[in-house]
Formats: sequence, structure tokens, C-alpha cells
Amino acid sequence: MNNLTRFLVIFSAIVIFCEGKGWTDEEETPEYWYDVAREELQVALGLQQKNMNVAKNVILFLGDGMSIGTITAGRILKGQLQGNSGEETKLAMDQFHHAGLSRTYAVNKQVADSGSTATAYLCGVKSTYYTLGLSAKSRTEVCSSEKGNAVESILVDSYKAGKSTGVVTTTRINHATPGASYAHTAYRSWYSDSDLTQEAKENGCKDIAQQFYDSSDMITVTLGGGRQYFRPKTTKDVEYSTDNDRDDGQELIEKWEMNQKDKGLNAHYVWNKNDFDSVDPVTTDKLLGLFEPSDMQYEVDRVADGSKEPSIMEMTEKAIQILQKNSKGYFLLVEGGRIDHAHHATNAHRALHETVAFDKAIERAVEMTSDSDTLIIVTADHSHTFTIGGYSDRGNDIFGLATENGKPYKGLDGKPFTTINYANGEGYQGPNTGEIEPHSRQNLTVVDTDDKEYLQQTAIPLAYETHGGDDVAILARGPMSHLFHGVHQQNYIAYVMRYVSCVGSDLGHCEGSSLPEPEPTTTTEKYNLFLGMNLDTTETAVALYVQFALLICFAFFTILLSTMLYKKGMKRFDGSVEKKYDNIQSLRL
Ligand SMILES: *[C@@H]1O[C@H](CO)[C@@H](O)[C@H](O)[C@H]1NC(C)=O
Repeated sequence: MNNLTRFLVIFSAIVIFCEGKGWTDEEETPEYWYDVAREELQVALGLQQKNMNVAKNVILFLGDGMSIGTITAGRILKGQLQGNSGEETKLAMDQFHHAGLSRTYAVNKQVADSGSTATAYLCGVKSTYYTLGLSAKSRTEVCSSEKGNAVESILVDSYKAGKSTGVVTTTRINHATPGASYAHTAYRSWYSDSDLTQEAKENGCKDIAQQFYDSSDMITVTLGGGRQYFRPKTTKDVEYSTDNDRDDGQELIEKWEMNQKDKGLNAHYVWNKNDFDSVDPVTTDKLLGLFEPSDMQYEVDRVADGSKEPSIMEMTEKAIQILQKNSKGYFLLVEGGRIDHAHHATNAHRALHETVAFDKAIERAVEMTSDSDTLIIVTADHSHTFTIGGYSDRGNDIFGLATENGKPYKGLDGKPFTTINYANGEGYQGPNTGEIEPHSRQNLTVVDTDDKEYLQQTAIPLAYETHGGDDVAILARGPMSHLFHGVHQQNYIAYVMRYVSCVGSDLGHCEGSSLPEPEPTTTTEKYNLFLGMNLDTTETAVALYVQFALLICFAFFTILLSTMLYKKGMKRFDGSVEKKYDNIQSLRL
């Protein structure tokens, strides 16, 4: 926290303490809550009018690992940084009118990674753990399984439709999420050629940095980290003098710049905040920014380090300024990629500050665009084992100890615990103890749980906290955002983005500038099991008609046959029917 925010938090804590509560007098009246609900209802009633426009632009905000709990805690942090209790605060993403849930499992995993999930929401295909841009026929880390299994992303489709495209991330630009927008790889950690296995080299698989370079015509703006993967091992990083990473000696950044300039484009490569700031979006055709050798700095560290690289909000703003020059529109992917990394370290402080910074980028994008022509989606790829618990008082410091009436709650071991915990991960023993033997839980009474290095406690000791398998949120605004309305498969997101922006192959509905009301859904369609087959309404009707016709025929033949038999029988038995009946009666006895 910087001094101002620290002051605000302390100030609000004092105000809350003096007031004796974290809420207003108004909140104690029913009228206040009726008003809150009425306001929400008015908004909901207004939504009867659907926005059926074609989306000229699509922006996908992907909070990596941004579980629903992360959104809640991020919202509370945002409010507390402004000196409020926090629970009542609204994030920019909270103000999107349409929402659904996304089911994140991979074809071969109950709990997915960021590669298979990125393939789902960018390419529209659920896939295999740890692969990118491949269908589930591919096998993790088996290069030969890439052949014939590539699936393209909405970024590629948008480029083919003449739109501009952008990728903004706080991770390496060849990391899983951005990677799935342009690369196809059996192993998402093949960042540079030095990461390739012997099998991968023998079968001609390319590293992800190389694939980025090969796709450079398709991507207008790329901002993030990862410059070491684009430069030879024999050279040093421009900022830190660390070794670069490529074995093949290629200077991919210089090659990128030269290629673009050869095509007559005004292309810029930047690696620091000053150069980034001086990029004029009006005259710039292409922009590549690589601000760190690997991932960019966490927001709290970036600020503490004097903001030598742009924030995710500044990158988003610059990207939109460049992309919006295309009259055909654009597709932009913005990844808040390090929410996930901080969660993996059970470091809620960094994870939630990343979430607040990510939300500022969303807020800026909303300001810069119109919901009449820009579909904005906010979602996550997967969850984490992050939890918010403990019946803490209203307005309690989100990083603090769980409290009741201002006093720390105690566990059965007599020790306090924090509101935020993780099910597994490094925080088990407290930060950096290096021990993995089970021993009693750290006593947090005198520990500063607000410290940015503090790791929340966990139930299971692991070096690296895992993803969670629970659904994540899809929040949407703009054209056709009402298509997110329930519990969806994650790959549905890509399908909707294509459908609404009229890119890809399903274009039958795309005449004109607004979309026709789609055919009524078949969710009310009844299915009937008939002789082991699932029949819909029409098929069932046909089956019933056939059955009816057969019955009529059967009845007709029965009558015909019995008439014939009767006539014959009359002759044969010749009045002995009574006698036969008597025989049957006697048999029964
Ligand atoms: C935890 O630490 C506090 C402060 O040092 C101490 O008063 C308390 O007894 C400790 N609790 C346990 C259960 O060890």
C-alpha cells in the first residue's frame, strides 16, 4: 500500500471504530433496502429491450484465476482503499447487466489449466490439459499429436474479417492465455526453442515465441512481458543484464520491426514506460511492447518500483486508441494474468491488488467505447482454492483477522485466523518457513497479515497452490450480451463472440447492421424414449401416426380373418361349440 491508501484505510478504520459500526444509519431502515432493490429492478425492467446490434468490436477481459470469491474480495478491497467498509462498493465489472456461469473443466481434467481453458473461450473447443489451440485429440507434451488437430481462435477469424486485433497481458505474451489466440502447441511451456524436447524438435514443432513472430501480420497491438524468449542466449537483457533465452540465435524483435517497416507500416517496439508513453496512437499502425524479460511486475511492485512499466489500464487504453482506427472494428484480449500467479503463491494481497488494477482497465474500456457497437465480456479461465470466511464484522480489513465485535475469532486451537484462506498451497506453515512437516498452525496474533509478502494459511501444504474446479462468472455488456444468461460451457463464449461480431463460419444471420431475433430455443422441446431411441416432438408424432396406421391395419386383418374363420368354423363345428365349452370347463376343474 502506498502512503495515501494506508492513510485512508487507517482513517476509515478510526471512523468505523468511533462510529462503532461499519454501516450507515440508513442501512438500518427497511426503506433503504427497498430503494436499493427498486433501483436494481428498474434496470432489470429496462433490459426487456434487447440490444440486437452487430458487435463491431469485441473486448474480452480475462482475469486469470479470477474466481467469484476473488471478485468479491477485490470489490471489498477497492472500497476499503477508498476509505469505505467495502462490501457495498461496485467494481466496474459489477455494473455489467448480463451474467452467466462458465463450466471450466477440460476434456481430460476435472480441474483445468489456463491452456485448455483458453482454447475453450478463444477457439471454441474444449481441449486437453496443458495444450494450446489444439482439439482434445492432441496429447500433452507430444509434438506429433499437434498434426491435424489445430483449432483457430476468434483473433484469427477477426483478422480474416478485416478487423484489427490486440493482445494485452500482464504475463509473458507467449503465456497460455495470450498464446491460445495465435499459437498451436502440445505443451504450453514451450516458450522458446530452448524449451523444446528432442521429440518436439524432431517432429518440427515450433516454440510459442516463434509462433507469435510467424503470426505477426495478424496482430495489430501486443503488450505484455516475455522479451527474453525473443532474443538469443548469447545476449543480455536490456534492463537487468540477465541472459536471454533462445538457442537458435534469432533476434525476433528486430526481425518483427524490420518486417513491418518493409511492409510500409509505422511499427514500434517499446520496452519501458517512457517509450510507451511517447507512442502516438494516431500515427501508429503496429505496436509491440515487451516490458519485462518474463512476466510484468505485480501492480503493487510496479507502483513501489516507480512505475517503470505501464499499468494494465494504460496498456488497455493505448491498445483501444490504436485499434479503434479500423472502421471494420477490432477484437481485443486483455488478460489480468497475474491474479493467478499471486493466488498460486497464496499471496492474497498481490492477487486482490491485481484484481483492482484489472477492474480499472475494464472501467477505462467502458468509458472509451459504446455499448451500441462494442461487446465487452469479463470472465475467468478457472477458479482457485481461495476462500472468504469467518463471520467477520462489516468493514473488517479484508486481509485482517476474522473478527466478531472487533475481537479476533479463535479456532479450536485458541489461535486467531484470517478472513481469507486457501485450501492448499505454500501458506500452510506461514510464509517462507521452508518446512513441510506437519506442525501446529502459526499463531497470527502478532503477525502483520496486511503485509504484501504475507501468505494466507492453507489446509494442505503444497509448494504451489492449485486451481479450483468451481464455475467462474461471465459478465457482459453491449450487443447481444443477453446471450450470457445461465450456466454455460466455457467454449460457448467463443461461439457467442463470433456470432455477435459476425466473424468465423456461422454467418447466416449477419446481413445488415443488427441481428435478427434468433430462432426460439429448443429448450422446451420434449424428448421421448421410443424403442431405445430419443425422439423429439416431430419424430414422436410420426411414430404415433405409424403406430396408429399399423393398429388400423391389424384390426382390419383381424376382423377379416375372424370373419373367414367364423364362416369356416360354422361349417366345421356344426353346432358343437357348446360341447367344446363344456370340455374346457371340465379341464379347469
Ligand atoms: C498467541 O500469541 C499471543 C500473543 O503473543 C498470546 O497471548 C497467545 O497466548 C498465543 N495463543 C496461543 C494459543 O498460543
